[in-house]
Amino acid sequence: GIKIVTIGGGSSYTPELIEGYIKRKDELPIEEIVLVDIEAGQEKLNIVGEMAKRMIKAAGLDWKVTLTLDRFNALKDADFVTTQFRVGLLDARVKDERIPLSHGILGQETNGAGGMLKAMRTIPVIDSIIEDMRQQCPNAWLINFTNPAGMVTEAAINEFGWERTIGLCNVPITHCMDVSEKLNVEQAELNFQFAGINHFHWHRVWDKAGNERTKEVIDLLYKEDEDAPDSALKNIHDAGYNVDQIQDLGLLPCGYHHYYYSEDIMLEHSIEEFKNGETRAQVVKETERSLFELYKNAELDYKPEELTQRGGTYYSDAACEVIASIYNDKRTQMVVSTQNKGAIADLPYNSIIEVSAEITSHGAMPYNWGSFMPAARGMLQLMKGMEETVIRAAVEGNYGAALHAFTINPLVPAGNTAKRVLDELLYAHKEHLPQF
Ligand code: NAD
Ligand code: G6P
Ligand code: MN
Repeated sequence: GIKIVTIGGGSSYTPELIEGYIKRKDELPIEEIVLVDIEAGQEKLNIVGEMAKRMIKAAGLDWKVTLTLDRFNALKDADFVTTQFRVGLLDARVKDERIPLSHGILGQETNGAGGMLKAMRTIPVIDSIIEDMRQQCPNAWLINFTNPAGMVTEAAINEFGWERTIGLCNVPITHCMDVSEKLNVEQAELNFQFAGINHFHWHRVWDKAGNERTKEVIDLLYKEDEDAPDSALKNIHDAGYNVDQIQDLGLLPCGYHHYYYSEDIMLEHSIEEFKNGETRAQVVKETERSLFELYKNAELDYKPEELTQRGGTYYSDAACEVIASIYNDKRTQMVVSTQNKGAIADLPYNSIIEVSAEITSHGAMPYNWGSFMPAARGMLQLMKGMEETVIRAAVEGNYGAALHAFTINPLVPAGNTAKRVLDELLYAHKEHLPQF
């Protein structure tokens, strides 16, 4: 039987993961699911862990569910390890969002200054998880959704050498749903191709007859008279895009491109939220509180609808599909973070990219994309350089590299602001930054 270990098991997303496994019970002979957390997360772990047990029992399955704080022993003989932890909990996210905003610059948990700090806190923990895996489960696959998922995956593979790592995000899934709805064509009747890096990728779409529909979708989504939301992502403000610019690009941007293509509108909106004490982390605290109230109900044995209020909805299901596809060599087409291997001609061979790929028993095989037009290529290369510099800063505890990453990041004004915001964030998070 299969043993799956989830690190950060106390997450409110865990019921979606369990639902995903139950859906695939015929292709996943699970023996044991271990949910690992830390002391600070123990209460959440117990509540959501009991809920997981009820869901599995209600499905008539005999899978063993273990809840533990002992990560090292939990990893013994694991086949798959999934990571969904948040170093410093939501309080750290509040700081990632509010400190930059207090200096008048964007505060977001995966983009800009906050995202870079989240990487610096998370990368040392991924390092220590991989250390444990080397001893306890040397053949296991690591399925990472811990954000910033692209940088964390790149560190796991390129810095710590765990080649059997796949990174995941729900954004591509959400976009496929959006496009299918806009075109009023079933998703199965459409063919998508995605390429870029995590939270900074583009996509194209064709129909069954082989006609490219990308430009049509751009008009449907971004023409000015369109008042329907242009992004189904719950955590991203619908700033809209300038349709002429996107038509010139000829590619569909992802939801996170709003921070770059519509930066001033996004900033203005975020400052508004900041003033009202309603940054996303503050809102999520409330959502999480009511989710855990639901999970406490000993009658509840299915994933509640309210979980779709979280921005990451659907990502756990994608994780289950990656596991099923590796285990059964299904070769499912999915969008994942994996090594480039030449798929994007504009980035180094071993860079971690987010790309449409086939998921096989030996990992993700990316589909070739080719080159981007200069307008996209330039930004993509800049963003990748920023990511690599953040990783170097995180691994070495290198202040100069951190400042350099802040200088490169398009959402941080270089100079005094970069230094001030970096210093304040490093101080605020010092408990979780032993390397600095
Ligand atoms: P959360 O705040 O609920 O944290 C999940 C659990 O991690 C908590 O129970 C916490 O106690 C635990 N934890 C913290 N530090 C830990 C450590 N060192 N070891 C083990 N457990 C630890 O977070 P969440 O909202 O469920 O999100 C979890 C992670 O997944 C975050 O990093 C978030 O950014 C990411 N996420 C990614 C996607 C995606 O698209 N890839 C989608 C949603 C969330
Ligand atoms: C998304 C992203 C995730 C992110 C999440 C935030 O859609 O893909 O990477 O973590 O939303 O959601 P939240 O509900 O925590 O704001
Ligand atoms: Mn994501």
